[in-house]
Formats: sequence, C-alpha cells, structure tokens
Amino acid sequence: MVENILVSVAWPYANAEIHVGNLTGAYLPADIFARFQRLLGRKVLMVSGSDSHGTPITVRADAEKTSPLEVYQRYHNGFLDLFMQLGLTYDLFTSTHTTNHFDVSQKIFLSLQKNDYLYTAREMQWYAPSQKRFLPDRYVEGTCYICGFENARSDQCDKCGNLLDPAQLIKPRSKVDGTKPELRETEHTYLDLGKLQPAVVEFLKAHESFWRPNVLRQSLGQILAENLHGRAITRDLDWGIPVPLEGWEGKCLYVWFEAVIGYLSASIEWSQLAGKPQAWTEWWHGPQSRTYHFIGKDNIPFHAVIWPAQLIGSGKTFDEFMGIANPATLNLPYDVPANEFMNLEGQKISGSRNWAVWGRDFLSRYDPDPLRYYLTVNMPESKDTDWDWEDFFHRNNDELVATWGNLANRVLSFACRHWDNRVPDPGELTAADKDLLARIEKGFETVAAELEAVHLRAALAEGMRLATEVNIYLDQTAPWTAIKTDKAAAARSVFTALKAIDSLKILLAPFLPFTSERLHGFFGNTRPLFGRQFIDTIQDDLGIHTALRYDPDGASGKWEPSRLQPGQELVNPQPLFKKLDISIIEEERKRLGH
Ligand code: MF3
Ligand code: ZN
Repeated sequence: MVENILVSVAWPYANAEIHVGNLTGAYLPADIFARFQRLLGRKVLMVSGSDSHGTPITVRADAEKTSPLEVYQRYHNGFLDLFMQLGLTYDLFTSTHTTNHFDVSQKIFLSLQKNDYLYTAREMQWYAPSQKRFLPDRYVEGTCYICGFENARSDQCDKCGNLLDPAQLIKPRSKVDGTKPELRETEHTYLDLGKLQPAVVEFLKAHESFWRPNVLRQSLGQILAENLHGRAITRDLDWGIPVPLEGWEGKCLYVWFEAVIGYLSASIEWSQLAGKPQAWTEWWHGPQSRTYHFIGKDNIPFHAVIWPAQLIGSGKTFDEFMGIANPATLNLPYDVPANEFMNLEGQKISGSRNWAVWGRDFLSRYDPDPLRYYLTVNMPESKDTDWDWEDFFHRNNDELVATWGNLANRVLSFACRHWDNRVPDPGELTAADKDLLARIEKGFETVAAELEAVHLRAALAEGMRLATEVNIYLDQTAPWTAIKTDKAAAARSVFTALKAIDSLKILLAPFLPFTSERLHGFFGNTRPLFGRQFIDTIQDDLGIHTALRYDPDGASGKWEPSRLQPGQELVNPQPLFKKLDISIIEEERKRLGH
C-alpha cells in the first residue's frame, strides 16, 4: 500500500524573480498535489530549494557586478516571500548552497565512481581568449545544430528541447562580451550513460503506460532514436560544489548533476531538522513510497533520464556511505508530470522584456486563491496555454465569485440570520436532498481519481461542477421564499446546502486553501485544515541559509464528506472572494512590456 509520497519540485534558479509561467509549470501543481495527499492521510514530504550554482547565477552576478552568493541570497529570499504568500507548503525549501547538499552530492559522485559509472576524458571546450578562461554552458550561445534556432545555449536548445554537445554549436559567441570563443582542450569527469542505458530503458518501459506523452517522447523516445552517450558532469568554474577528487581543484560539479541530487539532500536535511536523521529513507526506500517530480517541459531529460541514471548507478553505495544499517537502493521516480508552458497575452513570457506577470507583484494587488484558481484552470498540462487578463477577470467574477463564493456566503448568512447562527435541524430529508448529498459524496471519489492521476484541471473542473449542482438545487428548493411560508422546508434545504458546501470546502481545499480555511472557520471550527508555514534560519559550515518549512501539527482536514450536525454553531461569514472591476483588464495590460 502506498503510504509515503515524495513531492519533489523543480529547484528554481536563484537568478530571477518567479512569474506565473513558473508557478503553473511546477510549483503550484506540486502544492495542490501535496495538500491533497495530506488530506488523504498519506505521509507527504515536499522538498525543493534554490538552484544556486552554475553559470545561470554567475552570469547574472557578472552582469550586476556583484557576487554569486549575493545574487543567490537575494532571489532566494524573494522566493521564500512569494511561496509563503501563495501558500506553497514545502516541508523544506532550502538551497543547494548548504554543507549537507555539498556532502550528499559528493557522496553520489563517489558512489557512481565506486560502481564504475564514471570516466574521465579530455574534451574540447569553449575558451575565451579575451578573458583567458573557459566558458561553460550558458556563457556561450549560438545556433542549434539540430533545429537551427539561433539563440540556443551551448548545453541545451530552448526551441527543440534537445540537450546539446557544446562543441557542436554553430556560430558560437560569448555571452560576456560577444567575442568568438575558441575550442581548447580540458579534462572532465563523465557519467557513463551508455553503460546505464539498458537499466534506464527498463525503468522507462515500466512506466510507459501512465506517463504523459510529452515526457515519454523526450525520454524513452529519444533514447531509442539516438542512444545515450557519456556526459560531462564537471565544469571549469569556481562557483559550485568542488569535485571530490585530488588534483581537480578549481573544477566544480556540473550544476545539473548536483541540483537534481537536491531532492535527496533536502530530504536528508529535513530529517535532520526534524531530529530523525534516518527518516528520509521512508521516502527513498521501498514500494510503499512514490516519488513525483513536478517540473516544466524544459527539465524533462534531466529528470526522466539522467537523474534516474544517477540513482541507478549509485546503487546501494550511497546508503553505505551514509552509514545506513540496511543499505538499499534509492527509489526511482514514480511519475514525472511535466507541464508545457504558459504564454502571456499570446506571446512567450520574457523576463528581460518584462513581458511577464510576476508572482509577488501580482500578490501586491490580488489575493492568492484567485491566482491559484486561474493558474489551475489554465494549467498547461497537455499543451501550452495563455494567461489573458480578460479571461482572468471573467474566471474570477463569473466562476470563483458567482459560482462558489456567493454560494457559500449566501447560504451561511441566511442560516445565521434565520436560525440564530446555528445549523438548522432538517427533520426528514427529501429524495432531492439525499440525491444532492449523494452526488457530492461521489465527488470524493471522482475528484480524487483526477488528483491521483495529476489531472489537476479536470479535478478542479469536477469540483466546480459540483458547486454548480448546489446552485441548481438551491434555485429549485428556493429557501429564500420558502422561509416565509414553510420554515421546515427552508430548514431542510439550508441544512442540505450547508452540508454540501462543507464538503466542497474540502474538495476545493487543495486548490483554494486560504478561502477553504476561512470557510472552515465560518463553520465554527477552531482547528485549521492544514498546518503552518514558517521561515527558518539554519547555520552550517558554509554560513547561514534561510528556508521555508511546514509544520503539519494541528492540521485537521480530512478527505471525507461533511459530518455537519444540526445545532452546530456558525460564524457570520465574510465574502470569500472580491469581485473585480472591469478596468483592471486595461490597467494590467498597460503594465506589460515596459
Ligand atoms: N533550475 C532549473 C530550472 O529552473 C531546474 C532545476 S530542477 C533540479 O530550470 F532538480 F535539477 F534542481
Ligand atoms: Zn534546437
């Protein structure tokens, strides 16, 4: 039986603010899934952190004439602020710049070495004569030799998604000063992906039946078409994790090699913070635990191919290095529900052109649940989608406010007014009442089935469909008029509607946690549905790092139908959502692109 769920979420590069495309691509779906699993009663561990090394950070530091450490810390703290406001319940959101992560990454490297999956070779690397140094990955751009895209990075093409062999890039240019780099020889350690290919293919085939087509295409499909080749996992760079080999001073582990190891190191850091140093093995060993990787489509090869290869190649050796009593192999991903991209008003999101809706900026003007709602109904689960301000306006006013918020507010206020802030006694329920409650009860299966399959759009649509059913029921039973002539009939339908709303509060809670929590309070509950997020400061040999954490203590939410009883005390409600003025469409569009 599945008991443990590891929700491993893509680690944002700490070199830019987070926009709505990033949120809907990986971070929000992960939180919705984690909250649902917690309501189900499973043991959830949701981990991630700032991807703080490599050229994405040093390029930004160079451009701003500051240090990589300063860049990483600044953006990292912005992430914590955003995730706190948006209610992303990471059990631990840490960083790759920690002593623990250095140690775990080096141990994976040494495990692979011990198991003979590493080799060293000399390779040609772009070198900038103007700067007298090697230019790794992102310092070099040029034309993709696979699809012809002119702005490909030397290690990956954003157009066709392929990982590239940097030396084959056409018309290379240095990102630092635009000069033409030259190829020079350097020595690197390689991960022997060719040798790991049979095991990786076997792993992928075992998941073929339920993985998303886009993920299979960029993993199994590509391997079968082109085979895997050794890949350099070290770089000539000083910002990052030192290669744990003698004589390799001045070189670092490749950022992609170590960042994915963050899922493991963050689980270990979480265990240490919880005072249970070996608790992480509950999520990393055995079939009672499942690992889900929430990522955007540009991350697919790293999570569906290379990371599984790293794990397979480490075997039981990692556990041995960690001093685990019964060393076991590390669990491979169960699912990699990668999303496509979200565009903005018909164009690709671009941070540098400010063609973006930034998470924190949005939340300075609007509430978190409308954002979570809009990003879920528009989540790019199977194809690219578009953020459109007019659509946002309508979804907020016509769906969130009209279908759900008004329903809850209207019924609760009516009950408070006419039954003295108590749930009315319904007497004997009619067939229509029982029918509505049965259909809502069924929602605990239908919505759950979609959530389990990580079909979050479908799950939310099903929840909102049920809210519409309650509205139809109320139109038919019309307690607002019945109250004048037949108070018992009004009591029956108000009781039934309250019970349905109390259930919908749970069905919608993974998506709309803030308003579900408030609604839970209006129903007179004092214990919250979910636990509490907090920011922590952690000291280690590398210095101090801040982290976002989640304390599940006190959470009382359960994935089960309402047990509302007559007589239960109710609190006078406040509207759950704000109706937006139509002027926001033009105001928001004016902000774009400046
Ligand atoms: N930093 C990468 C990005 O933003 C994602 C890294 S996911 C990790 O695209 F697992 F490798 F960290
Ligand atoms: Zn390409």
